[in-house]
Amino acid sequence: MSERLFIFDTTLRDGEQVPGCQLNTVEKIQVAKQLEALGVDVIEAGFPVSSPGDFNSVIEISKAVTWPTICALTRAVQKDIDVAAEALKYAKHKRIHTGIGTSDSHIKYKFNSTREEIIERAVAAVKYARRYVDDVEFYAEDAGRTENEYLARVIEAVIKAGATVVNIPDTTGYCLPDEYGAKIKYLMEHVDGIDKAVISTHCHNDLGMATANTVSGVLNGARQVEVTINGIGERAGNTALEEVAMILRCHKGIDIDTNINTQKIYPTSRMVSSLMNMPVQPNKAIVGRNAFAHSSGIHQDGVLKNVQTYEIINPKDVGIDDNAIVLTARSGRAALKHRLHVLGVEMTQEKLDKVYEDFLKLADKKKDITDDDILVLAGADRNVNHHIKLEYLQVTSGVGVRSVASLGLNISGEHFEAAATGNGPVDAAIKAVKQIIRRQMTLKEFTIQAISKGSDDVGKVHMQVEYDGQMYYGFGANTDIIAASVEAYIDCINKFRK
Ligand code: KIV
Ligand code: ZN
Repeated sequence: MSERLFIFDTTLRDGEQVPGCQLNTVEKIQVAKQLEALGVDVIEAGFPVSSPGDFNSVIEISKAVTWPTICALTRAVQKDIDVAAEALKYAKHKRIHTGIGTSDSHIKYKFNSTREEIIERAVAAVKYARRYVDDVEFYAEDAGRTENEYLARVIEAVIKAGATVVNIPDTTGYCLPDEYGAKIKYLMEHVDGIDKAVISTHCHNDLGMATANTVSGVLNGARQVEVTINGIGERAGNTALEEVAMILRCHKGIDIDTNINTQKIYPTSRMVSSLMNMPVQPNKAIVGRNAFAHSSGIHQDGVLKNVQTYEIINPKDVGIDDNAIVLTARSGRAALKHRLHVLGVEMTQEKLDKVYEDFLKLADKKKDITDDDILVLAGADRNVNHHIKLEYLQVTSGVGVRSVASLGLNISGEHFEAAATGNGPVDAAIKAVKQIIRRQMTLKEFTIQAISKGSDDVGKVHMQVEYDGQMYYGFGANTDIIAASVEAYIDCINKFRK
């Protein structure tokens, strides 16, 4: 029988720290339920003391989810731990994740403290958390750059104080795989009582080594991995859940298994990408659009002769079903409901009726409706409470002429119109919006997500706008890419005009 590796998913905590990817509580519950169906062991649901929104999300996820342990993050501070314990009160299985920086630079510059004092604070935090829960995880922030001998002393002390899981984060994504593996081995060999706790990996991807480091940690004794869907997370992100799960599935020789239902990987990836407005890079391992697309002649020839020549994973094993029914204008409500269910989205009859109405409008414009389109439609009501809405947009553009845009906005029930010329249709349309809004805002980033299935596909636009020294992120999706751009711009403005 294979050994078991625990999957700790932090999509809703470390993953959600990505600027512009914040989810509301309803969306977080949707992701949490999907993670439960995927088979994760632990869901890190948030950092309750950081905001009322995070506090509330931990409460609601605790109520919504049954099997996985719900985990709440804290600093090594009593107030944080009190608030986390309160947020976890409805969880069937609960864990407090507390910790402190242990590298010399954290000790000196962040805490202006000493190594001994940091051990005292770590021990006190774990003991305090144990007053509330039996399951306490301790993180040694920046363990990747912490000297092994000192790290072993910290870990030994917190296990004695009652930590059940010890997390060894490579916070800055600095370590080499051998170095990280050797760190875990060192702890396995030098910490008294290490058998009383589970060692956890938590690797960031700044140098593109998060998954390699995680696997190296597992090969050297770690039995929990901290991961996110699609590897999302601050900066270059975290270790991708799907990569670790499939590495263990493909390399039978490792003889360590997880509880992940791999066929739910792809739908979960799509759901997270869609709800967080975070496109998955086309060449992303396991879940990227091109992950299973063979384009070179030699590969195509080999795959046609025998698929094993160039494919180590059957796409069906990760839930990619090329034969999935494509929805069209003739598809009924039941087919739409079924497809949403396969994608992990459940909704009330009332919402389904509204999505179906939008689905029929879209099906009038394009022949085949893809899973991406359906997820965009399912999330479209995220904008219903916006007080600025695009009413109409007309653009003329072409080669050798200046573009002209005229548009109408509804702002809290009042109607406004403007027209402008510009260096292309998007520029003209945005200038027209600015004539109405009249704020000093600067467009910092503008990304159009590649069209994947045809010229009638829904284009998705991501934007960043700077206003009053702060950055705001917006998203728009429309078969008309100019309209999608204006929607994304208005989405940004709605955020700072709240
Ligand atoms: O990267 C890190 O060190 C973390 C800890 C807070 C666990 O996310
Ligand atoms: Zn992290």
